[in-house]
Amino acid sequence: LQSGLLAEIAEAGDLGAVEAIRVKALGKAGTVTGLLKTLGGMSPEERQIAGPRIHGAREAITAALAERKGTLETAALDARLATEKLDMTLPVSTGAQGSVHPVSQVMDELAEIFADLGFAVATGPEIEDDWHNFTALNIPETHPARAMHDTFYFPDEQARDGKKMLLRTHTSPVQIRTMMSQQPPIRIIAPGRTYRSDSDATHTPMFHQVEGLVIDRGIHMGHLKWTLETFVKAFFERDDIVLRLRPSFFPFTEPSAEVDVGYTRDKDGRRIIGGAEPDGWMEILGSGMVHPRVIAACGLDPDEWQGFAFGCGIDRLAMLKYGMDDLRPFFDGDLRWLKHYGFAA
Ligand code: PHE
Repeated sequence: LQSGLLAEIAEAGDLGAVEAIRVKALGKAGTVTGLLKTLGGMSPEERQIAGPRIHGAREAITAALAERKGTLETAALDARLATEKLDMTLPVSTGAQGSVHPVSQVMDELAEIFADLGFAVATGPEIEDDWHNFTALNIPETHPARAMHDTFYFPDEQARDGKKMLLRTHTSPVQIRTMMSQQPPIRIIAPGRTYRSDSDATHTPMFHQVEGLVIDRGIHMGHLKWTLETFVKAFFERDDIVLRLRPSFFPFTEPSAEVDVGYTRDKDGRRIIGGAEPDGWMEILGSGMVHPRVIAACGLDPDEWQGFAFGCGIDRLAMLKYGMDDLRPFFDGDLRWLKHYGFAA
C-alpha cells in the first residue's frame, strides 16, 4: 500500500491531485486511517509489529505529500513569473495630463523676475475690510473712487470689529498690511485675486492683479521707472521695449503715473509688444510714489520713509504676452482653449 501511494504521489500532476491522494489515504475514511483504526482490535503482540509499520507509512506518506506540494507550487510560481514578464519596450499610455494655467504661469514668472530684483512675495486676504481696501489708502468714505471700484460688499450684519467687509477691489490693501507688519526697507510684490462687479470681453468679476511696493529712504520716481523697465523687458523677453509714463491720479500715490508699453505691428498687422519706434501704446499698469498719508496711516514717518507702488492686471499681461483678445475664456476651464494656446497637452 505504502509504495503504491508513494508512486501515485510522485506522479500527481497538480495540487488538486495531491489533495485527492491525501483525502484518499489520510482523510477520515482514508485507507491509512482505516489501518490505524484496526490497531485497537489487535493483540499487544500483533500491535507491537503492526503499529510502527502503519505509523511509519503514515509519516512517509505525509512527508511525500508535503514535498510534492512544494515542488508543484514552485513550478507554478516559475511558470507565472515566466509569463508575467514586464516588457520595458512597450509604449507607455499616459492618459490625460494636467498643466499649469496661463495665469498661474504668469504669476510664477512675475515672482521669479522680481525675486532677482530682491522682492519677496506678500499676500493678503481676498475678503477685506473697507479700512484696508479704501480708508488707509487715502480713499475716505465719501470719495468718488469708492463708487468707481464697483465693489462687492458683504451685508452690514457681517461687519467685523465695526468694519464693513468686502471683496478686495485691488491688491493695494496688501501695501497697508505689509507696512503695518514689517519694518522698512520693504520690497514686495503681492499677486492675487481681486474682484469688481464688472463684466465684458476684457473685464471679469474676478481677475488678478500684482501689487509692487518699495519703501526705503530716498526712493524716487527714477527707481520706479527703472524697476518697471527691467520687469517689462524680462517679462516680454526683449530689450527694445519703450515705456511711456503718463501723469495720472490715484488717491494713494502722489505723483501718479499710468504706464504704457510701445507696440509695433507684425507683417499681418498684429500688435507685438516692443520695438524701438512704437506704432502705438498699450496701458499696462498704474503706479506712483506712495502718498505720505498712506505711509503715516501705517504708523511710519513719511519724512523718513518714501517709496513707490504699482498695480498691474495679471490677466491683461497674459493676454498681451500670449496674443489673446478675450479675458473670459481664462476662467471657463475649456480644454480646447487651453490646448489652442498650447497650455494643455
Ligand atoms: N490699485 C490701483 C488699481 O487697481 C493700481 C495702483 C496700484 C496704482 C499701486 C498705483 C499704485 O487701479
